[in-house]
Amino acid sequence: MIYITSKQKKQSLVFLLLALISWASHASANPADLETGRDIFYKHCKACHGDKGDGKTFASNVLNPPPKNFTAKKSKKELTEERMIQSVTKGRKGTAMMPWESRLTTEEIRAVVHYIRKKLMEVEQ
Ligand code: HEC
Repeated sequence: MIYITSKQKKQSLVFLLLALISWASHASANPADLETGRDIFYKHCKACHGDKGDGKTFASNVLNPPPKNFTAKKSKKELTEERMIQSVTKGRKGTAMMPWESRLTTEEIRAVVHYIRKKLMEVEQ
């Protein structure tokens, strides 16, 4: 019989945990998720933010502040994933950026933010 020490048991538990964590983080970055994100962006966000995310839209002429240009250096610096999720969920008070929590699910908001970060801001793998 193979004798397993409690130290080995602990080690295998840690391995299992790490495997689970890496699996979970991959799960949120799967291609279907990216497709969902793109669909949502084209349907709900493009009119203001532009299909390239640079904010060069008709709407930008009439909105103050204008829609965020996701491709600008400044945006890439100041927009963390958490902040973006928060802004999409709750909106930005006093701006045309409305809250989306009653129209999109938490997963859909995550998906569209992931799409913007990966494909338009190019700050994510
Ligand atoms: C009616 C126009 C409009 C639409 C539609 C719109 N936005 Fe915005 N969005 C804005 C404006 C205006 C700002 C700038 C707000 C500011 O400067 O605080 C903004 C800012 C943002 C920001 C940055 C917020 C921050 O923390 O600075 C994110 C992220 C964002 N929008 C995502 C989205 C997503 C995702 C959608 C679609 C689900 C969307 N927007 C739809 C107008 C729009």
